[in-house]
Amino acid sequence: MSQHYQHDVLVIGSGAAGLTLALTLPEHLRIAVLSKGNLANGSTYWAQGGVAAVLDDMDTVESHVEDTLNAGAGLCREDAVRFTVEHSREAIQWLIDQGVPFTRDDQTAREDGGFEFHLTREGGHSHRRIIHAADATGAAIFKTLLEQAKRRANIEMLEQHVAVDLITARKLDLAGERCLGAYVLNRASGEVDTYGARFVILATGGAAKVYLYTSNPDGACGDGIAMAWRAGCRVGNLEFNQFHPTCLYHPKAKSFLVTEALRGEGALLKLPGGERFMQRFDARAELAPRDIVARAIDHEMKRLGVDCVYLDISHKPADFIKAHFPTVYERCLDFGIDITREPIPVVPAAHYTCGGVVVEQNGQTDVPGLYAVGETSFTGLHGANRMASNSLLECFVYARAAAADIIQKLGEVSAPSNLPTWDASQVTDSDEDVIIAHNWDELRRFMWDYVGIVRTNKRLQRAEHRVRLLLDEIHEFYSNYKVSRDLIELRNLAQVAELMIRSAMQRKESRGLHYTLDYPQQLPEAKDTILQPPTYGD
Ligand code: FUM
Repeated sequence: MSQHYQHDVLVIGSGAAGLTLALTLPEHLRIAVLSKGNLANGSTYWAQGGVAAVLDDMDTVESHVEDTLNAGAGLCREDAVRFTVEHSREAIQWLIDQGVPFTRDDQTAREDGGFEFHLTREGGHSHRRIIHAADATGAAIFKTLLEQAKRRANIEMLEQHVAVDLITARKLDLAGERCLGAYVLNRASGEVDTYGARFVILATGGAAKVYLYTSNPDGACGDGIAMAWRAGCRVGNLEFNQFHPTCLYHPKAKSFLVTEALRGEGALLKLPGGERFMQRFDARAELAPRDIVARAIDHEMKRLGVDCVYLDISHKPADFIKAHFPTVYERCLDFGIDITREPIPVVPAAHYTCGGVVVEQNGQTDVPGLYAVGETSFTGLHGANRMASNSLLECFVYARAAAADIIQKLGEVSAPSNLPTWDASQVTDSDEDVIIAHNWDELRRFMWDYVGIVRTNKRLQRAEHRVRLLLDEIHEFYSNYKVSRDLIELRNLAQVAELMIRSAMQRKESRGLHYTLDYPQQLPEAKDTILQPPTYGD
């Protein structure tokens, strides 16, 4: 039987952003953190590189701001960039206080006998400013924050709980405009339960799973973006999908990223014949921002008709490689590639959703009581192309800002009451799950072919036509059959794909990650693409 639960704060998503927010709130609040699979299945766990922050005495806030603005191709909101960078040091200190084991630099022993942290470099950064835990930073952060959350009696971690949709006053025809909770599928019982909450946080990550080839884990389905859209929130800049230049190219290596920090430490990109090529595309060569490197690789692969290019760090001492990149070293070795001796075959793959749910500097969306943090949100930090390792930083800075805002509003908001139970009286068990599997494949393939690194009007029109057919079919399926995780994710992913295509069609220029052969130039004025949901402002 379907259950009703009540919390002060409902956090949908258990990655860096969600856990930071939960841990920053006071211990007298009852908090539920939902994970739609196992806790470690989110993108945070797989992040290799690190967190960008101004930590070195020789580095400055101005320099980090300027690099971010440059990488964002004129579209970053400078106030968001400045806010994020200015809060970077305290966010890192908070992580250190939680116990995150960042890699120390034994070359820079301090006078007090301690060690400074090792800072690496990545594309677009003019300074060493990436603090990291070898090449498994996400796992180190996630494990530490999860351990802290498990120690807190007020935080309930719920695995295998999939949010279906948000409950809002508007949907219930109640007075006022507020998010009141969410309907959540408990995969163990098969029931959709009602979660009432004073504050709801979307921390569900991005939507890179919309593409056939991605560095992301399976759950990156844009759930938060789709739910917020259906709840009446605006979304912004969804045409900017970042392709990571270097994912391992091997038939059995599903989604394995080869961290950009390799290039930061001197790895070179080469063609199959061993010739370097990046210097032909950008003076910064291998350390150009990601949009430039991914497009250059795509260009060379198409020009030469080859399946991949190569990333070579074998000129560095083997001990250095093994110490700095143990994850990449071991994983490549699993596939018979010894990176201390030979180059790594790599291809670009979808990696990061730069746009998302429009939020204020405190993570507040258009619907009062509903917050979005991390990759789900659109803060204006990333502009037309996110700079490496700014994403984890955004998670910490904005999650802490959202927590501060919630604390301030606690006195004003009471618990919602009498929320209706999920109505499953009109639906039956599906006997046609092949439709879900087919639509998943079709969606991801046409997004890859038509809405990828290089776009055209015609390709976008084809994608638009197909996504509309899929949305109709999925809607019919959703209306008639009981929900499952696959169906919920497909419904969300198709919705986000439609928003991405629509956003891409509105942009009549090439800028950052959005490159179209029909409008190869950048317009003089940089403008965000903001989409209004049908109900917004009604
Ligand atoms: O290459 C990387 O390690 C990825 C970093 C990032 O996406 O920020």
